[in-house]
Amino acid sequence: MPNHIIIKKRIKNFSKQIKVSSDKSISIRVVLLASQAVGRSKISNLLESEDVLNSLKAIKKLGIKYIKKKNTYFIDGFGVNGFTSKKNITINAGNSGTLARLILGLLIKTNFSVKLIGDKSLSRRDFSRVIKPLKLFGVNIKSKNNLLPIEILGTKYLRPINYYESIGSAQVKSCIILSALNTPGITKINAKKSRNHTELMLKFLNYPIKIKKENNFDKISVTGLRQFNAFNYDVPGDISSASFFIVLTILSEKSNLIIKNVNINPSRTGIIIILNKMGAGIQLRNKKTYNGEKVADIFITSKKNLKSINCPSKLNSAAIDEFLIIFLAAAKAKGISRFKDLGEMNKKESKRLDLGIKFLRLIGIKVKRFKNDINIYGNPNLILSKNFEIKNFLKDHRIFFLSCIAALTLGGKWKINDKDSIKTSFPNFLKILKNIGAEIN
Ligand code: S3P
Repeated sequence: MPNHIIIKKRIKNFSKQIKVSSDKSISIRVVLLASQAVGRSKISNLLESEDVLNSLKAIKKLGIKYIKKKNTYFIDGFGVNGFTSKKNITINAGNSGTLARLILGLLIKTNFSVKLIGDKSLSRRDFSRVIKPLKLFGVNIKSKNNLLPIEILGTKYLRPINYYESIGSAQVKSCIILSALNTPGITKINAKKSRNHTELMLKFLNYPIKIKKENNFDKISVTGLRQFNAFNYDVPGDISSASFFIVLTILSEKSNLIIKNVNINPSRTGIIIILNKMGAGIQLRNKKTYNGEKVADIFITSKKNLKSINCPSKLNSAAIDEFLIIFLAAAKAKGISRFKDLGEMNKKESKRLDLGIKFLRLIGIKVKRFKNDINIYGNPNLILSKNFEIKNFLKDHRIFFLSCIAALTLGGKWKINDKDSIKTSFPNFLKILKNIGAEIN
């Protein structure tokens, strides 16, 4: 089977209602927290992508049993620090930075050592951001140049820390929060704002965690060594996956789309704010709160006259995984769009800032870059007719999705490699695209 797809036609008008895959950040957290709960947790609509399947494999190696019946996973936890293994083990986090960084927090008290490895992309990513706070807790952790493989051996002699998290990384913040569960006393984190699913889940589980919101920071304190009970969770749709369908609809002609039951946690909805500032008119309807998280249906219609944006950098964290597709919207907007301080994009599954700029230039869009700031010179009349081939993007799923949406809205003949990358976060991406009318070979 070839691992590429061919797109030769723009998508025709559509009017559809879809569901996108379940939220990846929430799915990984639900698996990890169920592994620490007391009793049997029941999880429906868990995302079955590689990142989440690797999370399930990891807890299984750590002695946690689970079964799947129909659409539901049942996970049997033994409480906080309930991992067991008679021998030292290796955990493969695959492509997932979230799994790798979060699980380290749950391993700081184990009495066996764990070697953490990952795929080529993950093995290039920097772990100093979590190794530094983990060492402060007192754990034994070894790695060469702060890269994978990492070896961690837990200790009984842990101490709570007081940490200033200045990157705005939810993975770092969550690693510290999960470490705090195993640590006596109160761990305090002053964290630059980032997605807050871990905090919301622990609150929903009645775990003693306190959050004081300040302007750009959250002051979090977590009391260690408490237990929490098993829980039920129905995972909502992923706004990061929805984002590709949102921009597809906006840039298509005379089309409209409803995406049902998507997580709209304000720490994730930067894309909606940004696109609406550009005149997209996206609406969130049927808003509800579920287990502390907000969900809604997203209503989108095609828009001919997108405006450029001067994007406030305080929205960066809430749109960090969506900038690639936002850049495509900016490429079709009238005027120069400005984005600032996007260095974190280069620390993702691939160097997304560099590749995003390369992509825009490939489709004939002028881009000026000043370190981590970029200006995109939009062209509302952009139509493509040439041949394009997308390859060598470290199998980054989001570059694959971006390429498909560009092909389906701008035209041209596209060969897009590494189709398998969709398994990371959104295995039924191509199926849904075909259902709304895309012709893909
Ligand atoms: C994630 C946090 C973000 C994001 C990633 C998922 C999470 O990374 O880019 O895709 O689930 O915590 P950082 O925390 O490194 O910004």
